[in-house]
Amino acid sequence: MADPHDDDTAYSARILPGETCFAAPASLSLLEAALLEGIRLPSSCRNGTCRACISKLHAGTVRYRIEWPGLSPDEKDDGFILPCVACPTSDVTFEPVGMP
Ligand code: FES
Repeated sequence: MADPHDDDTAYSARILPGETCFAAPASLSLLEAALLEGIRLPSSCRNGTCRACISKLHAGTVRYRIEWPGLSPDEKDDGFILPCVACPTSDVTFEPVGMP
């Protein structure tokens, strides 16, 4: 199986509200890709534990770099993601919602 970190597929990401768009390579987290394009998103730990970056995924899919990102199963089912450790596996649309 291919190492997902070597995947250079480029997806596009859209941030709501405001429709900001940026290129989101599969090998980078959504937060890393946004920062590379000069887009600031809420963040702190950048390792999936503090939840400062929690966002609602409105469209698309992600995979996680870590086995247990700081989301409950219910939050995952409800479409919440942690962009600091979530890498896109398709074009995505998400909305930072702050710590619930
Ligand atoms: S920045 Fe801490 S969980 Fe994303």
